[in-house]
Amino acid sequence: MIGVFDSGFGGLTILKSIVGIMPDYDYLYLGDNARVPYGTRSQRMVYEFTRQAVEYLFLQGCPLVIIACNTASARALRKIQQEYLPVSHPDRRVLGVIRPSAEEMVERGVRSVGILATEGVVASGIYCEEIRSLAPDTRVYQQACPLLVPIIEAGEDKWEGTDMIIAKYLQGLYAQDDGIATILLACTHYPILLEQFVQQVGSRAVVLDQGPIVARKLKGYLSRHPDMAERISRDRKRYFLTTDTSDRFDRLARVFYGESIQSQFISLDSLCS
Ligand code: DGL
Repeated sequence: MIGVFDSGFGGLTILKSIVGIMPDYDYLYLGDNARVPYGTRSQRMVYEFTRQAVEYLFLQGCPLVIIACNTASARALRKIQQEYLPVSHPDRRVLGVIRPSAEEMVERGVRSVGILATEGVVASGIYCEEIRSLAPDTRVYQQACPLLVPIIEAGEDKWEGTDMIIAKYLQGLYAQDDGIATILLACTHYPILLEQFVQQVGSRAVVLDQGPIVARKLKGYLSRHPDMAERISRDRKRYFLTTDTSDRFDRLARVFYGESIQSQFISLDSLCS
């Protein structure tokens, strides 16, 4: 199976896009809903939580894990790839969502981009680093949106207060440069609010959802790595795991994934170091 991990529900927006273009593979989703949000946590905690989740997915037999969370990709992916995998699982692969998104910005010829993300991602400066490593002249502006993940996880995305909060964050972004013409929703939870963002931004900018970007890039990766593609089973099965109560997960996951699902509770406690 392809393992897909997020701190909560957000990664389901990525999984939905991946399944949409590669329906044959089997997928195992893990949401660490008991410990969401990651966005306000320290690098050390995000690394430790992410390592446990990746380890769990490896124990279930996933040869490839997608970290469908910007915060975990920003705070933990490099260390997992450079220190943890070579020592503990040299035959497995872990990919994130930031590099593919940065590549997409450059391929689209974007000259100035607004990144809306969690506090952890903004503090890491990883989007500036990744995009500028590919296209040094690109202007990258960032705005942290710390209230959005708790609102979304609480299922309050339709609440009228959410529009006011979005307006405040967009104001913060445009205060840095009022000519930003591309905005990347660089948190996998935010596509749930895509309509609200598009409505408020209007014709001023294109608002991009990472799901289709990450899905296309993963397809490209698997076609360049047929050895990995062959290790993944293809029975069109999908499994969903959560570290919180599965009833709640099933209810809210429907909004993110677009289909009803049945999840299973798991604990990552035994993997704490
Ligand atoms: N979905 C995660 C991301 O893409 C963030 C959620 C969180 O703060 O845990 O950054």
